[in-house]
Order: sequence, then C-alpha cells, then structure tokens
Amino acid sequence: MAGKIISGTEVAEVIHTEIKKEVADLKSRGITPGLAVVLVGEDSASKVYVAMKEKTANSLSITSKQLSFPEDTDPKELEGVIAGLNSDPEIHGILIQLPLPRHIDERVVLSCIDPHKDVDGFHPMNVGSLSLGRTDAVAPCTPVGVIELLMRNGIDPEGKHVVIVGRSNIVGRPLATLLTGRRRGGNATVTIAHSRSKDLPSITKRADILISAVGRANLIDGTMVKPGAIVIDVGVNRVPDDLAPNGYRLVGDVAFEEVSELAGAITPVPGGVGPMTIAMLMKNTVQLANRSLEYKGQDY
Ligand code: GUN
Repeated sequence: MAGKIISGTEVAEVIHTEIKKEVADLKSRGITPGLAVVLVGEDSASKVYVAMKEKTANSLSITSKQLSFPEDTDPKELEGVIAGLNSDPEIHGILIQLPLPRHIDERVVLSCIDPHKDVDGFHPMNVGSLSLGRTDAVAPCTPVGVIELLMRNGIDPEGKHVVIVGRSNIVGRPLATLLTGRRRGGNATVTIAHSRSKDLPSITKRADILISAVGRANLIDGTMVKPGAIVIDVGVNRVPDDLAPNGYRLVGDVAFEEVSELAGAITPVPGGVGPMTIAMLMKNTVQLANRSLEYKGQDY
C-alpha cells in the first residue's frame, strides 16, 4: 500500500498565514521586517531559489532586497557589502546564497555577517549557540523546516531512530543537532551516514525516520527502507527530460515511485522540503526583526 504524501506546500501555506499576522503586528509597532539576499555568480539553480525567496517575502509584506554580483567579484567587495547591510537599520536578516564561487572563502564571508542578522544561522556564533542547546538560537532553515514538517504532520521524532544521510553544514549537521536536542521536535536517537559509511543500506534500513540530504538522484531505493518508515527527501537534482520545457525535471535523492510503495509517509520533490525551507527563512526574518526591538547589547 502506498504511503501518505507529506505536502510541504500545504504546511508552508499555513505557516505563511501565521507569519502574515506577525508581520502585521510588527508593522503596528513601526517595524517592517527586511531581508537582504546576496547572490554571487551565475549558478542557475541559485538564481531560481533566490527569485522564489524574494517572491515569497513580497507576498508576506516582508521587504526584500536582492543584491547580485558577477562571478569574479573580489571577496573584499563582498565583505564591504555585508558591512553595509550589517549597519542598515531596515535590514534584519542577511542571507548569502551558497555555494559561492570557488575563489571566495565561504567561511570568511559568513563570519562577516552580524550574528544578530544571520538569518541562516550559519555564523560560527550561532552554530555554537545551537550546539550548546540554546533553543533561542537562529537555526538553519532547511533543518527547522524538516522538523516543522514532521511535527505538523503528527510525527514526533522523540524516541525514534532517525538516520540522516549527508553531513553538510547546511542540512545534515544542524539537523542532527536539532533532533538530538532537548526541545520540541528533538529527543531522537540520530545516526549520520555519509559518503564514507560502509554498507549504507544496512544503516538506512534501521531508520524509523530516514532523511536524505545528499544531492544524488536515486540514492535511496526500495531495498534501503524499512517498511512503514517515514522518508524525508531533502535532495534536489536536475535530471534530463526531453519532454520538459527546460530539458530537465527536478527529482529528489529518493526513488519516489518505488519507495512510496513501502514507506509509511514520504515527501515529494518538488513540493516537500523546498517550500518549508523558504517558509522558515521568512519565519527567521520575522524572529530577527522582533529581536531587534529587544536587543540591548550583549546577548550571547
Ligand atoms: N544553498 C542551498 N541551501 C541554502 C540555504 O539554506 N541557505 C543559503 N544561504 N544557501 C543555500
């Protein structure tokens, strides 16, 4: 029997409605949440993501400012741009779209963001706060989106064995931190598998909740999933498709047709985790705008 389809699009819509109320409340207190999105280079997938972020921000009355720079931008110029955004009172959240071109050191750039405006939670200060279990730390959008999607579908990770495939700083690592934390959506037992893991199927088959965040089409097939498991697909991959208008279509890491037959519930790609990432970006922006009202100096 086919498993339930977990729709991120539907949950994101509910969250958008909640955010609209928070934005209206902030506006009545004289603050319009402002998000700056910085894009460097010509990565076509990044351009699409950035456009989607801007569109969603506009639909929620969040001010969004997109700054685009050419591939060969000098890292020092980028640092200057970030310094300007750090001191711009109308900007509450700063997002540097990743990946950056190879000549730019991502770690240096991310460290230039004022931690109070770090809407992605990628600054070392915020990564540290999250690791220390601070529940008020701004957490990366995709991991919080995954947890919100589970919780709002009545799937609480507490006490369950969650296997995460992928150890990136954007998804795998912060997701493990959140899932193991003493917090809502936490208290899980977590295994992180990655490219050096031996016998991946024997690990993934032990998962009550299996989360793949690698970026490889068909990585997870039916032989790797325990019947009844919850399967969350974070991967977004372009595969050639002559029938599609752009010559490609989007698929996740999971062989959907096959795995959906045995999973208890599964997210589609597109329409699963993607919309949740954007919804959480908006939520983080509003959270930072709210906090800007309270910030009185030292708070780390
Ligand atoms: N590239 C892929 N995912 C993300 C994300 O969540 N934030 C940023 N800044 N870049 C990304």
